[in-house]
Amino acid sequence: MSETQAIVAVVLVILWMIAFLIWSVHFIISMRNSVPYVTAPPKTVDQIIDALQLPDKGVLWDLGCGDGRILKAALKAKPALEVAGVDNNPIPLQLARWNVPSAKLVQGDILDTKFAGVDRVYAYLGPKLMSALEPRFLSELPRGARVVALQFRLPQRTPDQVITLKHGKKYAAKLYVYDY
Ligand SMILES: C[S@@+](CC[C@H](N)C(=O)[O-])C[C@H]1O[C@@H](n2cnc3c(N)ncnc32)[C@H](O)[C@@H]1O
Repeated sequence: MSETQAIVAVVLVILWMIAFLIWSVHFIISMRNSVPYVTAPPKTVDQIIDALQLPDKGVLWDLGCGDGRILKAALKAKPALEVAGVDNNPIPLQLARWNVPSAKLVQGDILDTKFAGVDRVYAYLGPKLMSALEPRFLSELPRGARVVALQFRLPQRTPDQVITLKHGKKYAAKLYVYDY
């Protein structure tokens, strides 16, 4: 083996180890979460933004923001909006940082988010988290706030609107809209 071939082999091994480390962190956190990292299908994003009825100014949170695609689309629609996301998985959160540099992005648990002063909430989560969030939304969200939930509804409250996504998938078919 020549010296060049040896250097290439070492670089490839190092790259493979980095990729394995990133994948392991992602896998371990995904296994511990009750909700995996699955993004809203790209063709549904516009309909989600419509359902949010974003104000020109105000605060939008994406709970479990993944790669930040909803926050990016929201900012495109309403550039003066404050957009924020929380996710406990650093891998998609890093994608969100690249995707939406001006967003407030928090690495942590969704349930540590405070909802006072929040105008819009988007959530693509699961039954356990929706159940934990329901009383918090009721007691903390200001009057006039709107929650749009993809696929998983709040367990107690009847949604104000149910929207079937035109380009939805089996795992992301409906939006549940709640006005406070
Ligand atoms: C189904 S994905 C939704 C991604 C993005 N909101 C979208 O619609 O494209 C759910 C996200 O929530 C995150 N997540 C799950 N449980 C969480 C928790 N307890 N705290 C913070 N993030 C969590 C996952 O890491 C994942 O990125």
